[in-house]
Amino acid sequence: MADGITHDSEILAREVVARCQTLSRLSEDRESICRTFLSPPMRDVHREISGWAAACGATSTLDAAGNIRLLYPALDSDAPRFLIGSHLDTVPNAGAYDGVLGVVLGIALLSGLRGRRLPFAIEVIGFSEEEGIRFRRPFIGSRALAGTLDDKLLGEQDSAGISIRQAIQNYGLHADEIADAAIGEDVFGFLEFHIEQGPVLDKVGQPLGIVESIVGQSRLEFTFVGQSNHAGTTPMESRYDALAAAAEWIVAVEQKAVRTSGLVATVGAILAKPCATNVIAGETRVSLDLRHRDDETRKSAVEYFIQRAEDIITRRGLKLIWCVGLDQPAVLMSLSLLHEVEQAFRKADLTPFRMASGAGHDAMILAEKVPSAMIFLRTPGGISHDPAETVELGDVAKAIECGLHLLERFTSSSEFMGKRKNA
Ligand code: HGY
Ligand code: MN
Ligand code: MN
Repeated sequence: MADGITHDSEILAREVVARCQTLSRLSEDRESICRTFLSPPMRDVHREISGWAAACGATSTLDAAGNIRLLYPALDSDAPRFLIGSHLDTVPNAGAYDGVLGVVLGIALLSGLRGRRLPFAIEVIGFSEEEGIRFRRPFIGSRALAGTLDDKLLGEQDSAGISIRQAIQNYGLHADEIADAAIGEDVFGFLEFHIEQGPVLDKVGQPLGIVESIVGQSRLEFTFVGQSNHAGTTPMESRYDALAAAAEWIVAVEQKAVRTSGLVATVGAILAKPCATNVIAGETRVSLDLRHRDDETRKSAVEYFIQRAEDIITRRGLKLIWCVGLDQPAVLMSLSLLHEVEQAFRKADLTPFRMASGAGHDAMILAEKVPSAMIFLRTPGGISHDPAETVELGDVAKAIECGLHLLERFTSSSEFMGKRKNA
């Protein structure tokens, strides 16, 4: 199979890039790529993917959380199962590869098998929601597979007051069947291909990387509450300006992150009310996303940012409301699966390059339930979450080669598969 792998991988890579481009045109917005949880274009994405799955001998179903599940059967019906997948939703004004590449690449591996049945089944999954844009809660799809999509989360509402549960019903699915989406004991591993979304592989000149760990992530919302007033008649010393207070805090966030090694902190969204040129803002809501590989450092940074906000509103005579939307610990990938992936790299004439992930991924949710690994593809220019996001065709071909070699390893030795069974 090895010599065929190299030949096929270039042809399959071209198809992967073309298919990512096809999916990038399925968007809520005519001018840019944006697909949020179970939005209308997701139906078109599911239809495209189901057609590609059928062409390579896989069946497709939608689970109650809106994940599309492509099953490529094994030689025997009671065989173990290996999962490959990533997410199909995007951030606003997204690039064409974040998430979808991992799903389309999984389908390419099925095509690369050319109908050959293996001693294990392969399930390729397109997760319904990883970014957390619509409900400000990430990982809805993968939480359903991990069995952690609970009632509290299902009750979270979007800006129109629609809950996740209602959005599922509106899509024609049944939220009370969420439990059926959870993965079973037959699953022995999960692999996510994903663009790195950062500068590392580009800088070191590596086409692919192997993720050792995914940094922990906190997401919070702060609302500074002051008093709207007239911009022209209100003296500076008698203002309760919620936007000026938020601005002072945002600068403090950046200064703390710059001087704390390994900490990244971002205020990406701000909403001032009433948002008028000649009115002092009475209320300003801001988001905070912060990450660090060490959970204690991340948690003390959260406390520091809350304290700074409290100090600012006390001095200015305002009020503060804040809430935590995500407190996601750092996650280690499976060392035993990582060793298997390293062997596959060597078979593809690649030197294994281990690295951490600064971005969050569905693999950090699946890793709670099943040995999980990630293969990063180089992000030229290190730009992501932007239309400039791209991949190299040769790197996609290399990723396909590694994926096929990994499947070959599981086929020729049931050692890794057996570990899960005996775990
Ligand atoms: O925000 C992240 O880390 C990922 O892109 N969802
Ligand atoms: Mn993303
Ligand atoms: Mn992603």
